[in-house]
Amino acid sequence: MSKGIFITMEGPDGSGKSTQIDLLREYLEKEGYDVLITREPGGTRISEAIREVILNKEYTEMSPVTEMLLYASARAQLINEVVGPALESGKAVISDRFVDSSLVYQGIARGLGVENVYNINLQAIGKYMPDVTFLLDLPADIGIARKKDQKELDRMESESLQFHRDVAEGYRSLAERFPDRIEKIDATLPIDRICDIIKVRINELLAK
Ligand code: TYD
Repeated sequence: MSKGIFITMEGPDGSGKSTQIDLLREYLEKEGYDVLITREPGGTRISEAIREVILNKEYTEMSPVTEMLLYASARAQLINEVVGPALESGKAVISDRFVDSSLVYQGIARGLGVENVYNINLQAIGKYMPDVTFLLDLPADIGIARKKDQKELDRMESESLQFHRDVAEGYRSLAERFPDRIEKIDATLPIDRICDIIKVRINELLAK
């Protein structure tokens, strides 16, 4: 076990993770935590460079295995350089996506298998599994419509609606598989309701 707390935020594209991360940061800072926020893929110089490759819309020929290994590589660097040291020094780390994204997007939606993707990712994450993971559950159609309104879609967001439906369904099945760690929240609820649900769970964690 590390000294800090490790929280991850997951959900389909457009599920409102960043808004909740900002609210959670404020709350944890009030509780006296030194908070570090990071995102995947990215969060270090090398991981951001890998992100550019993974999300580049021109690379339509990328194989699922290449994609999985690139995400795992970006993750390995992030853990080694940022997340691991922050947790060891007692910080609260909130990550916008982590290994569950690979389990769902590559393991389920791309069909590489959850066990297979998890085993490969063990090399990247070592002992660092999240203490709690919030899944912002949203129907795929709503998430992608929200994204389209905001910006040009990247390589993953440009995938078919069926792919995004598989992602949304994949997340639900993952939450059933890891009920102790993953808290599923209805992302169509008002922002402050979602935030309250998150705070309740965080308080339970801090009381342990
Ligand atoms: P990003 O723009 O960060 O999406 P969002 O704002 O929805 O979090 O892009 C990350 C994309 O990469 C997103 O479509 C999910 C996907 N992804 C994977 O397929 N596997 C992974 O392991 C991770 C971390 C992300």
